[in-house]
Amino acid sequence: MLLRATPHGALRGDIRVPGDKSISHRSLMLAGLAVGESRISGLLEGADVLATATALEALGVHTERLGPGEWRAMGCGVAGLAEPDAVLDLGNAGTGVRLLMGILAGHGFTSFLSGDASLRRRPMKRIAEPLEAMGATVLSRSGGRLPLALTGRVDLLPITWRSPVASAQIKSAVLLAGLHAPGRTTVIEPLASRDHTERMLASMGATVTSGAGEGGWAVELEGEPELRPQAFTVPADPSSAAFPLVAAVIAADSAVTIRSVSINPLRVGLLTTLREMGADITLVDERVAAGEPVADLVIRASALRAVDVPPERAPSMIDEYPILAVAAAFADGTTRMRGLGELRVKESDRLVGTAKGLAAFGVEVAIEGDDLLVTGLVRATREATIDAQHDHRMAMSFLVLGGLGSAGASVAGAETILTSFPGFAEVMNALGASIKEVAP
Ligand code: S3P
Repeated sequence: MLLRATPHGALRGDIRVPGDKSISHRSLMLAGLAVGESRISGLLEGADVLATATALEALGVHTERLGPGEWRAMGCGVAGLAEPDAVLDLGNAGTGVRLLMGILAGHGFTSFLSGDASLRRRPMKRIAEPLEAMGATVLSRSGGRLPLALTGRVDLLPITWRSPVASAQIKSAVLLAGLHAPGRTTVIEPLASRDHTERMLASMGATVTSGAGEGGWAVELEGEPELRPQAFTVPADPSSAAFPLVAAVIAADSAVTIRSVSINPLRVGLLTTLREMGADITLVDERVAAGEPVADLVIRASALRAVDVPPERAPSMIDEYPILAVAAAFADGTTRMRGLGELRVKESDRLVGTAKGLAAFGVEVAIEGDDLLVTGLVRATREATIDAQHDHRMAMSFLVLGGLGSAGASVAGAETILTSFPGFAEVMNALGASIKEVAP
């Protein structure tokens, strides 16, 4: 599908964006590990999360859609999944496959896992290594890539795992495997990454503690808990809100409200950075919904200035750099985003893809080591067509750019947006953007 965005004026309106992808995956998986029926509301019904639901069905967890975003799942208990009789295809979902690997490590059967062309390129060794240290066996393609076979064990060893990167996917995979190990499993990461798994496990009755530890952020889990079924409420995804948010900050005279967005402190790096750049964003009605802090975001158009984004901020805005780079293209001066090495192993190489994409529109951009530099105050962008390369966030970032610059933007392979933000074009267009499907 080819989508084309043409320049628009002020954006105005009051919108909701879909449920948080991270929390949606975890709700389904943790519901599957509880004993009995859990309810989920606000579930993101994007392709990634639906792939997780299908995989759980194949493992014996009965899931049922009751209405838009309303689901129920019958959990089988922490060690109660059944051997799947076909390959589990997680599509584009890194979170889906990696967290599921952690769960499957504690089951005494072999599972075969694969995904789409993007997921098959991504590193899985970072997950296989700790799971093997706990006693699972992983046979993979070269470089630890999918497809892979994972044979689990019901008697996993509790370990202390030091992750070289701050990654919630690594941390969560080890903690989920730790559910099956007697005693205490510990993960130490260099900086705290998103903590949804910890919050949700604690609310289900597991003992999870975290705090500054030796050389980083340490999370400890007591194994073999019985998990209570839950009524999960999924807040709106701050990583999806990021697109209308940035568009509203930049399009002159805009005023947009985005409802019930997660403001988990480990997800708010983009808000912090945009505010440093001069963005007028107010958090209204801050509250806690089902264990996650949420607020309505009120955004008014603002003039932005360039900033230097420190590497420590990366875990709290890891998925937002492409859209931050778009914002930087309209800020006064050169923005330097530091320490973006992890962007190379996302759904696509987002460091190179962002730089090449921005350059195609006429934006001055450079990569220095793991830093991205974007020089802003674009007066005239060129029209360009970008291939999404199976990367939903790249697709949406360039469509936002096309609406803000002086020329349009086209994105080929834009169906990938369904991964995380079904209805993206409709939501943007309701605010005053113009994103339409065109014949290739
Ligand atoms: C996610 C963690 C992040 C993020 C991804 C979702 C999660 O990945 O990029 O989109 O749900 O745990 P890493 O943990 O690999 O940084």
